[in-house]
Amino acid sequence: MTEQLAILGGTPVRPQGYPAWPDVDEATVARLTETARSGVWGGFPFPGPNTALFAERFAALHDVRHAVPMANGTVTMEVALKALGIGWGDEVIVPALTFAATAYAPLAAGALPVLVDVSPGSLAIDPDAVEAAITPQTKAIIPVHLGQVMADMDRLGEIASRHHLAIIEDCAHSHGKQWRGRSAGAVAAFGSFSHQSTKILTSGEGGTLTTNDDRLAELAASIIDCGRAKDPGEERFTFGANYRLSELQAAALVGQVDKFESQMEERAQAAAYFEELMAGVEEVRLLDVDERITRRSFYRYIVCIDPEAFGGADNDMVCDALDEEGIGTWVGYPSLTRDPLFQPWLSRLPAAVEHADRLRPEAWDCPVSDRAGSSETVYLDENVFRAGRQGVEDAVAAIKKVRDGARSLRSLMDR
Ligand SMILES: Cc1ncc(COP(=O)(O)O)c(C=O)c1O
Repeated sequence: MTEQLAILGGTPVRPQGYPAWPDVDEATVARLTETARSGVWGGFPFPGPNTALFAERFAALHDVRHAVPMANGTVTMEVALKALGIGWGDEVIVPALTFAATAYAPLAAGALPVLVDVSPGSLAIDPDAVEAAITPQTKAIIPVHLGQVMADMDRLGEIASRHHLAIIEDCAHSHGKQWRGRSAGAVAAFGSFSHQSTKILTSGEGGTLTTNDDRLAELAASIIDCGRAKDPGEERFTFGANYRLSELQAAALVGQVDKFESQMEERAQAAAYFEELMAGVEEVRLLDVDERITRRSFYRYIVCIDPEAFGGADNDMVCDALDEEGIGTWVGYPSLTRDPLFQPWLSRLPAAVEHADRLRPEAWDCPVSDRAGSSETVYLDENVFRAGRQGVEDAVAAIKKVRDGARSLRSLMDR
């Protein structure tokens, strides 16, 4: 007999839930208190002491020459594009399956985001789709290292160098991850990280740009500091605005950064165990594990359900059912091709109008992103992988329970 699902009144698999996030520890509270008492709360002059210390530690963690902390992980990408001189009339290729920020950033810099599909196995940007979308106006690609995966940086690097394009890695989900021994965010021109409250290295709000290029780092630091020069007394350096991180936020980051590696390692080990236990669960597809990812790290772990095998329930319904079983999940992003904001033929922005004819709805077709976002993706919270082997076993038990009881979800779907 199948067990009654918690969403229909049954007993949850894990009523006690998982460890809280963020992990508020004494080191962070002490650093925040000390900073509050110091009266140095803002981000001016840039960088303040906590910001400079965090930048140093974050750069070391990613083995990259420069880390420039700033307000969030959206302006990071806008600033990267501006530092690269990308703006009006230019096109920037982004995956359709991502958060709106990845496509918003090119618009904020004055360029047009061109959406392309993702690869079915990884749900990361499809290099063939990138190649097909390149025009004389294309200036950059923003691959997103979604969840536990990484975009194919070998192929993207080769395409970018053949077409003289810049790459900005959107690493909002990927602090600490490595591709062939090099950190996400250190492989391309820029890496863009988010420290928003749910992210795995957080200060509530915040972002960091990483780069190995001295000149790009200097430009980025100036753009976020109202265009100021590095040394006081020098001429204004460039055109910019205030996108600085505050010292209070930087204090939280300094407090959290030391334990980051052990948390990352714990999640990576738990993910390997999860994959072992899920091997026989055919109704749930695991994303490809690319061996070129040499250090695993993730913000949320993504699986794809087969709605047919779940009695017709889509990812939304399955996430609701898993949440009630005590397993924190999220349905993920819908394809941006469904978002009217990013449809050039509906826009009055000059950059979009200019390109609208070529970018008709038929060229905007991203079936893999569409299907994944609207019915398949289930993102398991990071803390499922920070609760020992039992935490993983409970998540797998809940997935199997929901699969076995999926037919009973029909009563909710018909409502
Ligand atoms: C893939 C991706 N890119 C960019 C961002 C933007 O980060 P922030 O919220 O710090 O602006 C997010 C945040 O959710 C994200 O998930």
